Amino acid sequence: MIRKLIITAAFAAVSTISLSAISGPDKIIPQPVDFSVADGIYNLKTDGSDIKVYLSSPAFADKVKDLPDFAKEEAYELTVGKKGVKIYAMTEEGAFRARQALEMMRLIDRDIAYCSIFDYPRFQHRGIMLDESRSFKGKDFILKQIDALALLRMNVMHLHLTDAAGWRLQIDAYPDLTDHVAWRVGETYHEWEGLGYPFTNAQDSKAYGGFYTKDDIREIVAYAAERHIDIIPEIEMPGHSMEVNRAYPEIACVGEDGKPRPFSWDLCVGNDGTFKFLETVLEEVIELFPYKYIHIGGDEAVKKDWEECVNCRKRMEEEGMKHKNELQGYLVRHIEKFLRERGKTVIGWDEIVETGLPEEAVVMSWRGTPGGIKAASEGHDVIMSPNSYVYLDYYQDLIRKEPKAVGHMQSLRHVYKYDPLEGIDPEYHHHILGLQGNLWCELIPYAAHAEYMLYPRAFAIAEIGWTPQEDREFFHFRERCLMLITVFRSMGYNTFDLFNESLRAQTGRLRFDDPTFKLL
Ligand code: ACM
Ligand code: ZN
Repeated sequence: MIRKLIITAAFAAVSTISLSAISGPDKIIPQPVDFSVADGIYNLKTDGSDIKVYLSSPAFADKVKDLPDFAKEEAYELTVGKKGVKIYAMTEEGAFRARQALEMMRLIDRDIAYCSIFDYPRFQHRGIMLDESRSFKGKDFILKQIDALALLRMNVMHLHLTDAAGWRLQIDAYPDLTDHVAWRVGETYHEWEGLGYPFTNAQDSKAYGGFYTKDDIREIVAYAAERHIDIIPEIEMPGHSMEVNRAYPEIACVGEDGKPRPFSWDLCVGNDGTFKFLETVLEEVIELFPYKYIHIGGDEAVKKDWEECVNCRKRMEEEGMKHKNELQGYLVRHIEKFLRERGKTVIGWDEIVETGLPEEAVVMSWRGTPGGIKAASEGHDVIMSPNSYVYLDYYQDLIRKEPKAVGHMQSLRHVYKYDPLEGIDPEYHHHILGLQGNLWCELIPYAAHAEYMLYPRAFAIAEIGWTPQEDREFFHFRERCLMLITVFRSMGYNTFDLFNESLRAQTGRLRFDDPTFKLL
């Protein structure tokens, strides 16, 4: 009996689906909260004239009255019947999410079953982070991924715009950031590293890189706003900032020999020029990004040069600091206050809670889940993006099958297993704003490769963020992924080949330290 069950499960895992000719709410990702399908098929008109939208009708307002505000704003009701499509929502945003659900049904097949959907998201933050510093993929790539996120009813794109490997945002006050350290020698991150981190300029035939002009950002922000997606800029500090020291060595840490250290990984917290630099940059960032949140990084500061720097040592003495870690807290608190005074809320990687932080700051948990769990219990809002589940630069299938990637295998199945409320005391559930998948690009130099790592795992992030936990079921989700992969490929996305995923990836997580790994 047990053997029979195992064989059945294995067969179910490898069998491919038969693509039904009729689309409907049971085919889409994320799966809606509530839906039903009736007899009858509707063929959507191409000009949209058969779609009627009703905003804030009393009956719909009554239906959503008990939902949290964020869910109310995105909630919608959608019916497809013989007279066409009706959409009810409280806001344009809700109506847009409905249109995207309809669009996904249409992309699967123009013939849509008569149906009705009532739907709203589980979490308010459903995001993807793209690392534009390590590999600059440019505006067209970003716009294309915004389209994908919109279709998946996601609402946040976080751009990692600055890091040692390249500064990617025009800042008028500091032109060397884009004239110089946006251009490196070495097409890939590791080539550049192997060459000793050389920067050059755009005119050099060996230059690799680029940056977003202010006009590019305005276009991206406007394009995203039409799709009800927020763009969160990340200006990294104090770690991962060697490019700033290379462009402006006068603000870098200083060694005992009195010379600046432009190869220092971290910003100098002892130099007042660092604060002037960051505040000036952030003033320009605020003008470009009209959102509540600005991400200030905060992860993995090396802090080595701080020990030796005369300015950092002086700052510690003046401020009565006993440990170099307190320099990080000093900088983060200063910048948090600066941004709060300008109406912005800081987001930072989970390291920022270790050195004292006002409750208003939002924590992005990446070193697994403990940082987020602790931060929520201390009163912070939290976005869960644990590297134990949703790091999209990690392998998605067996190492021998895949381009070089990071860490252990985070297959579609493994990502889908994640519940952002895992380990969070119910008392603090309200602090969990949602989740985010992060695509670091040290090993991902090209746009097509980035899409390969994103899809279909971003489908899982979308469904985790939207669909009630008790309604999620992996094999049904995987079948819908196979359909959506076909759709995405037809739209020109270079997805992972889920049809040829190994059985091992479909059925479980595999760590490098798993003794059976060598056998695969
Ligand atoms: C991170 O992955 N260093 C935030
Ligand atoms: Zn210093």
